[in-house]
Amino acid sequence: MSTDTLAIDFGTSNSAAAVLDNGRPRRLPIEAGAETLPTAVFFPAGGGAMQIGAAAARALVAGEEGRYMRALKSVLGTSLFHEERLISGKRRTLTDVVTAFLVELKGRAERETGRTFTRALSGRPVHFHTADPDRDARAEADLRACYDAAGFAQVDFLFEPEAAALASHGANAAGGTGLIVDIGGGTSDFSVFRAEDGEVRILASHGIRLGGTDFDHAVSMAHAMPLLGQGGALKREMGEGLLPMPNAIYADLATWAKIPFLYTAEIRRDVARMVKLAEKPRVLRRLSTVLEEELGHDLAFAVERGKIAANGAENDARIAMGLIEKGLTAPVTPASLDDCLTGFGEALRKAAAETLQMAGVTRIDTIVLVGGSSLMQLIEREMRVVCPDAVVARTEAFTAVVDGLALATAA
Ligand SMILES: Nc1ncnc2c1ncn2[C@@H]1O[C@H](COP(=O)(O)OP(=O)(O)OP(=O)(O)O)[C@@H](O)[C@H]1O
Ligand SMILES: [Mg+2]
Repeated sequence: MSTDTLAIDFGTSNSAAAVLDNGRPRRLPIEAGAETLPTAVFFPAGGGAMQIGAAAARALVAGEEGRYMRALKSVLGTSLFHEERLISGKRRTLTDVVTAFLVELKGRAERETGRTFTRALSGRPVHFHTADPDRDARAEADLRACYDAAGFAQVDFLFEPEAAALASHGANAAGGTGLIVDIGGGTSDFSVFRAEDGEVRILASHGIRLGGTDFDHAVSMAHAMPLLGQGGALKREMGEGLLPMPNAIYADLATWAKIPFLYTAEIRRDVARMVKLAEKPRVLRRLSTVLEEELGHDLAFAVERGKIAANGAENDARIAMGLIEKGLTAPVTPASLDDCLTGFGEALRKAAAETLQMAGVTRIDTIVLVGGSSLMQLIEREMRVVCPDAVVARTEAFTAVVDGLALATAA
């Protein structure tokens, strides 16, 4: 691959682009003043130009009319990715949306460098979908189709943790065996590697579909959604007794990629009917406010902030829900955070142990933590259980993957 290759880390939460300059990765400021850009889009209601990254988030926070979307990578490989939806007055598929995002990213990279990129070297998780090879293959094919449509004549993929290994072997300067642990927004990826004669040799890579957006989901379901009526009851339309509140709408509202699809007349009507039947109508009215005023993403951001604030906090953190009802907050304690994430710790430990097994090693000298969610305390704790003798190194959590991809364009 040569100088016309753009390295792209298309992340669930954040994306980045880089090129190789004189043998070194050069991250491109595809977001003004930043090395990464939120993988988010905003379509203004009036049909104006699509915005991406921080500008999309600003439009959302400013309450502009339009459709905001985030975490689209998690929809790759599913039927939703190909369904046409009405998005700000125009019928589009998510394929169109991701393509438009990549077109904009490519354009920014080209303006920044004055080069034309005909090839992309893109990261991909080891598994977009756990234990479902067909869906996994479809996810890569979906992403490839978006790169093709965005104008890249050639697209190659590299496993994200392998890219991170290329960039981080400096962190493993003492030599020996390293384990990359890349916990992002959508997936957790692992590579066992050895640095020999300045070369990185990958012994095994593995991954599961679990990341920060799943942590957000769990935190939301345990702390925020009960304040919107989740777990409550409805009176029967006919006859005596109570029925449990349906859970599906709360599960969708707590899932980044599904939020935009909740704002339909049908769902709003259903919720209005449920408010009338609710045992506690005042609480359920908050759910109705979220749907009417399209506050789902504002709530998801508040949950994400609450998660990060509670991580390692000495005092309780709070999810601020004042936009929904004045003064409304959901406390998150370190213990309640731990509680709702316990099952995840176990899954991550198992995946890391499997990676060691696949590599045929029993001892890891250095654990290299990358990815935004590796900042969650539970990650280091769980990885130390799997690799008790290892030193824990942290490198550039948000840019190790794109750096490694840029290095790999030299190949
Ligand atoms: N300080 C922090 N503490 C805990 N979690 C954090 C912190 N900062 C960011 N995160 C979480 O990190 C995740 C994003 O990380 P990152 O940008 O590495 O993901 P990504 O590369 O977009 O996703 P993926 O690689 O899974 O596709 C989000 O879920 C975010 O909530
Ligand atoms: Mg990532």
